[in-house]
Amino acid sequence: MNALAGRPVLEVENLTRHFITKGFFGREEHRVRAVDGVSFTVGAGETLGLVGESGSGKSTTGRLVLRLDDATAGRIHFEGQEITSLRRGQLRTMRRRMQVVFQDPYSSLNPRMRVGDAVAEPLEAHGIIKDKKARQEKVADLFQRVGLNPRFATRFPHEFSGGQRQRIGIARAIAVEPRLIVADEPITALDVSIQAQIVNLFMDLQEEMGVAYLFIAHDLAMVRHLCHRVAVMLRGRIVETAATEQLFADARHPYTQALISAMPIPDPDREQARQRIFYEAVTPPADARLQEVSPGHWVLDQA
Ligand SMILES: Nc1ncnc2c1ncn2[C@@H]1O[C@H](COP(=O)(O)OP(=O)(O)OP(=O)(O)O)[C@@H](O)[C@H]1O
Ligand SMILES: [Mg+2]
Repeated sequence: MNALAGRPVLEVENLTRHFITKGFFGREEHRVRAVDGVSFTVGAGETLGLVGESGSGKSTTGRLVLRLDDATAGRIHFEGQEITSLRRGQLRTMRRRMQVVFQDPYSSLNPRMRVGDAVAEPLEAHGIIKDKKARQEKVADLFQRVGLNPRFATRFPHEFSGGQRQRIGIARAIAVEPRLIVADEPITALDVSIQAQIVNLFMDLQEEMGVAYLFIAHDLAMVRHLCHRVAVMLRGRIVETAATEQLFADARHPYTQALISAMPIPDPDREQARQRIFYEAVTPPADARLQEVSPGHWVLDQA
């Protein structure tokens, strides 16, 4: 049996990233604990949702996992290999197996590059496609898989709507058949009417390819629909993590309860009766530890 079988695709252990910033006059130094000892795993074909208020460290976590930024401490294993301290040249294989989809598809596409070329670029960079015909066929296939007409491949990014551009970004990400996609708020910038379509596309592709997602998001309703498990971040820490249904049925941390209570309910009667829970965010004490309250459901100690 393969040594990797059953092992999570991604294992993050005590991941930490502190930023030292200087004050306005360049004297006083200030330490921002953007990510402060975060641990989680993402299984093969699984979706882990990372949620939490603005500034809680979600994007920094994503960037560390992608090795776009260097951790202050902690370890990242991807497909069983420690990638935390790989150097640029050694990251190549990992870069192919782990892809990214960003929030703003427009800024992540080169405006002067035909979208078909943008989708083919990672295939060429990794030497997967050799000749022109194979390239054209592969691009057409990828366009189809993300719900775009292959004839659009010769157009430029500005000729597409936001939702279509995000489809192009997704086609580019899946082109090299990654095992993990880090998606940082991939639907936040889209019209509400388009968001569900893109979420469904992510789900369909997962079913087809068995790809895992680390899905960073604000919208808890989407997270509930898409994610198998959820981790809630607050000020650089995970305060609660559980299987999605467990988390929504039995949230234990007051911050999670507050987030869930802020979700609108689509039924008007129940929406009217909805009780908001307010939680004044406090930085979790440094010595607080996650406790397992039921299998797979972890909650940070409260002071
Ligand atoms: N390069 C940097 N230098 C200094 N501080 C940074 C840097 N990048 C992020 N931070 C700080 O780290 C903290 C976490 O930022 P991060 O972008 O990870 O949050 P986030 O959860 O993704 O927020 P949002 O929901 O707004 O996207 C914030 O306080 C942010 O200001
Ligand atoms: Mg962010």
